[in-house]
Amino acid sequence: MPGIVIVGAQWGDEGKGKITDLLAEHGDAVVRFQGGNNAGHTIVRGDQEWKLHLIPSGILYPGKRCVIGNGVVIDPRVLIDELHALRARRVDVSGLRISANAHLIMPYHLLLDSAGEAKLGSLQIGTTRRGIGPCYADKAARLGIRVQDLLDEKILKKKIVAAMEPKRQSLRPFEKDPALDLHTMTEEYLTFGHQLEQHVADTSKLLWEMLDAGKKVILEGAQGAMLDIDHGTYPFVTSSNPLAGAASVGTGIGPLAIEEVWGIAKAYTTRVGAGPFPSELHEEMGETIRQRGGEFGTTTGRPRRTGWLDLVALRYATRLNTLSALVVTKLDVLSGLDRIKVCTRYRGPEGAVFEDFPYHQTVLHHTTAELMELPGWSEDLGECRTPSDLPDAAREYLEFIAEQAGVPVALIGVGPGREQVLWTEAGRQTLLGEDAVAVSGRSAL
Ligand code: GDP
Ligand code: IMO
Ligand code: MG
Repeated sequence: MPGIVIVGAQWGDEGKGKITDLLAEHGDAVVRFQGGNNAGHTIVRGDQEWKLHLIPSGILYPGKRCVIGNGVVIDPRVLIDELHALRARRVDVSGLRISANAHLIMPYHLLLDSAGEAKLGSLQIGTTRRGIGPCYADKAARLGIRVQDLLDEKILKKKIVAAMEPKRQSLRPFEKDPALDLHTMTEEYLTFGHQLEQHVADTSKLLWEMLDAGKKVILEGAQGAMLDIDHGTYPFVTSSNPLAGAASVGTGIGPLAIEEVWGIAKAYTTRVGAGPFPSELHEEMGETIRQRGGEFGTTTGRPRRTGWLDLVALRYATRLNTLSALVVTKLDVLSGLDRIKVCTRYRGPEGAVFEDFPYHQTVLHHTTAELMELPGWSEDLGECRTPSDLPDAAREYLEFIAEQAGVPVALIGVGPGREQVLWTEAGRQTLLGEDAVAVSGRSAL
């Protein structure tokens, strides 16, 4: 029953889309299990670039089974647009299946997300304003509208009325917004239902049958561990659990079906939106990394905050996910730096030292990164095709990361392209089942 989970091990945008697309070649299904169109996953194939927000990153393989699991929140308008855009580029989307239990983002969720942020003023979270938080809030309050409700006009109308009732006060400023008119909304969502109906299925059963038949299922996370609503930098987090544990609940497959958990991390750190970021670079180096790495949001276009690799956060993400391997992306971005810094621990007020991620928010807000220097390299890495092509200093950097995280590096990213991913022995052995000498930590490269 080989289920493999791909998760972000930082604050999102680690390169999950690219890695999922790459691994999908060896898988039978690709499944999203949480988040919504707050995600922006980029895939580069040759001179073509794809930006996916809701549809799993396996869709570029003709006929590949792609599933939007029950844990995802779906804005049907965005999903339909994404399907249209893919069809227009001659992508076969017939393999897509959508869980009937997934919750829907409604027009009032979008309005409430923006209004909530405006109200917070300088304390705002910096959400993507896609209605994610309000939609998950309704799900928990049992006021959500689900995909299956689109297929029953009477129920849909009743549920919309029930969901809007407790929001009357907060929606008052938008009273005249035509998007909130009950009749218009119901009609529009029924139309969405007709357009999506062919893709709606019992995806939990479908996935179970695939796993039971020995097929390989790839579960594609969105966001990253540090944005997890339970374990991340709350309240500066998203409203779902981007951790591997959620892959089971968010798809309806049991946890024992998951054999591998691969965490994706950049060779440095980025974050979009507000919240603590101990290893953040405010000086020129931060801008250098932003420009070289093209660190601007896939979904909102916002400049990403940048910083050195945070090993305290990475060790935390490794533990929370029980990562079996790491994928280090964007190593190429660090070429040309004399020295590379990494954050190995945090320093708090009065000299306190934190090897582990502090559980208390106030403490975390007052920590600074303790940095260690490692030798850099000048070579361009874009043409490297195996780990042995890398300069010694780059290999040593990866070995240091693997040792600190306590898990082997399986793949290394040296550019946005598909061919710019280097497989280590650990990666080949785990995913491709190739024979290799026992590998772990240092020897993985
Ligand atoms: P995701 O949300 O985790 O899928 O990541 P995004 O797509 O939002 O952001 C990652 C960005 O980095 C995209 O523009 C990718 O094309 C790009 N990328 C991924 N891996 C690498 C890499 O190894 N090197 C470089 N230079 N770019 C990469
Ligand atoms: P991918 O899957 C990076 C961030 C937002 C904000 C916080 C809450 O592309 O890695 P939300 O709209 O979810 O309520 O916003 O979470 N955020 C992301 N940051 N990558 C993402 O997705 C993100 N999805 C949400 O910037 O700080
Ligand atoms: Mg992204």
